Amino acid sequence: MEKIYLVTGGSSGIGLEIAKRFKDGKVIITGRREQKLIDSVAELKALGVNADYLQGDVSDRERVKELFSKISEMGELRAVVNSAGVSGVGDDVEVTLRIDLLGSALLIEEALEVAGKDTAVVMISSMMGHVVPPNPQLDPVLSAPLEEGNLEILMAACKGQSDIAYNLSKRGVHLLVEKFTEDFGKKGARIVSVSPGIILTPMAQAAADAHPEQMAFMKQMTPCGRNGEPDDIANAVEFLVSSKASFITGTDLRVDGGLTLNLPKIAAMMAKKQD
Ligand SMILES: NC(=O)c1ccc[n+]([C@@H]2O[C@H](COP(=O)([O-])OP(=O)(O)OC[C@H]3O[C@@H](n4cnc5c(N)ncnc54)[C@H](OP(=O)(O)O)[C@@H]3O)[C@@H](O)[C@H]2O)c1
Repeated sequence: MEKIYLVTGGSSGIGLEIAKRFKDGKVIITGRREQKLIDSVAELKALGVNADYLQGDVSDRERVKELFSKISEMGELRAVVNSAGVSGVGDDVEVTLRIDLLGSALLIEEALEVAGKDTAVVMISSMMGHVVPPNPQLDPVLSAPLEEGNLEILMAACKGQSDIAYNLSKRGVHLLVEKFTEDFGKKGARIVSVSPGIILTPMAQAAADAHPEQMAFMKQMTPCGRNGEPDDIANAVEFLVSSKASFITGTDLRVDGGLTLNLPKIAAMMAKKQD
C-alpha cells in the first residue's frame, strides 16, 4: 500500500516546506485557495515529490470528514501534519478560534478514526501557546472546544482581541495533544505538537508589517541570534514523523531558537515601556 502524508496548510510557509520532505509516498496538501494549491503542487512535483491537493477549510467538519475518507482510500496513512492556521492578524476572534483551535480539534478527531499502526500526527502549535498559564476554568474548555457553548466561553475570554484568541488556541493544541495521546496509542499511533518561534513565512511577514518594532526586538531577544526558517520546523517534523521518534508521543517540541524562555522578560519590558 502506498504511504500517504497529509499536510494541511501545505500550500504556504511551514506546511509547504514540510511537504517537501516526504518523498517516499504520496503527499496531499490542503488549503482554502485553489490557485495556491495548484502552484504549490507544481513546485513540489518539480522537486520530485508525488504531490496532489484537496481544497478545503479545516474548520468545516464535513470537509474534514470528506478529506479523511478520500485519504484513507488512497493508501496507508503514514502522517498527518496540521500546519493550517491563521495568526489572528486581520482575522477576528471567532475566525481565529474556529480555524486554529476548533479546526485542530476536528482534525485530531477525524485523524483518530482512520489512524493505523505507526501513523504519526504532528500539530503545529506556537511558542505563544506557552505564554498562557494553566487555568483551571479555561483549560477544560480549551481541551473540548467542539462541545456546545465552549466557543462562546472562549470568545468572551478573548475580549475582542484576536491575539488572545491565537494564544489560547495554541495552548488548546498542546492540551488536545495530551488528551488524545492515549487514544492514538491504543491504535499504535502517535500524536505530538511542535511550537515554532518566529519563522520567516508569509504569516510572520504579516505580523512584521503590523508590528515592525516588536518583531525586531523579538529577534534581538532570541538566544540563537536569528529568526527561524521553515526548514528549521521541517527538520523537526521530519524527525518526529520518522521511526527514530517512535517512542515520542503526547508532548510538545519547541523549535524557537530559545525565544520562549525570554517571553516573560519581554512582556515585563513592554509593560514597563507602556507605563
Ligand atoms: N510563521 C511563524 O512565525 C509561526 C510561528 C508560530 C506558529 N506558526 C504556526 O505555523 C502554522 C503555519 O504558519 P505559516 O507561517 O506557514 O503560515 P502561512 O504561510 O500563512 O500558511 C498558512 C497555511 O494555512 C492555510 N490555511 C489557513 N487557514 C486555513 C483553513 N481554515 N483551512 C485550511 N487551510 C488553511 C493557508 O492556505 P489558505 O489561506 O489558502 O487556506 C496556508 O497554506 C500555523 O499554525 C501558525 O500558527 C507560525
